[in-house]
Amino acid sequence: MLAPYKVSERNTVYYTNLTAENFSFNHSHNPFIQYNRDKQFRLMINYLKPSPDDRILCVGVGSGRELEILSNYVEKLYGVDISEKLLLHCSDKFKGRFDGCLCNLEKDKTIYDVDYFDKVVCLNVLPYFSKSGMHNFFREMSRIVQDNGELFMFILNAHFPVSEALQKQSQKNRQKCSKPIYYYRPISDYVNVFSRYGFVVRNAEGGDFYCDINSWFFKYLFNFRWSKLLLRLMDFGGRTTLKRYYRSLYLTLTNQSYSQY
Ligand SMILES: C[S@@+](CC[C@H](N)C(=O)[O-])C[C@H]1O[C@@H](n2cnc3c(N)ncnc32)[C@H](O)[C@@H]1O
Repeated sequence: MLAPYKVSERNTVYYTNLTAENFSFNHSHNPFIQYNRDKQFRLMINYLKPSPDDRILCVGVGSGRELEILSNYVEKLYGVDISEKLLLHCSDKFKGRFDGCLCNLEKDKTIYDVDYFDKVVCLNVLPYFSKSGMHNFFREMSRIVQDNGELFMFILNAHFPVSEALQKQSQKNRQKCSKPIYYYRPISDYVNVFSRYGFVVRNAEGGDFYCDINSWFFKYLFNFRWSKLLLRLMDFGGRTTLKRYYRSLYLTLTNQSYSQY
């Protein structure tokens, strides 16, 4: 296993050099994977309720998937990323509507003024951050997000019963093919950091409990034949206390730091 600081360095190098061409979120025929991808955007809109004048920052723009959805709701699009090429890709895609900021959010501040944003969306980014990177991220968000502004984020949950096996499997596979490494973390790790910077949880919903671990039990459970029924259960359970054991979670936080900066 790589030491955490090595993982962090590796992830930084990988994402700094990432281009839109080698950024892949291909359409999947797996209904469980597709469910998760669709759900992210459904919940983003349900929880952030974007209105035309909102200033919403997308952290980790990637190929612009969230921006594409948000472009139907807001006038101006804002994004921050560590990859200059991904920012250029989004500038090209959304032209004058897009305002991008090149920044390593594990270490640095953005260019934005205090209280500049109403809302933030951060999907599929925080699981790649180191613990010190998480501190920098929430410190900076509490500076640039207005009081009572909202932050919608995705995390991987270490309380998911097979998270340890998944973590080992993905780390081994990703190390081999030089892909970035992500972390399943206990929810308390996140709470300890964001509450320090004045964020409180307004809402939490379970994402999914799908896993592709190599075992007859999970292969049988996640058989496509009964995927519709299982997905309905997943949707329902995500709104109950069972969400605590889901593989992924969506948290909506409110900034109550009352601008100490
Ligand atoms: C897995 S991709 C997710 C992209 C997009 N949110 C999505 O779901 O399609 C992670 C994104 O976060 C960006 N990123 C990774 N580390 C970062 C950092 N330290 N600071 C800013 N952006 C970072 C990457 O360049 C990439 O665009």
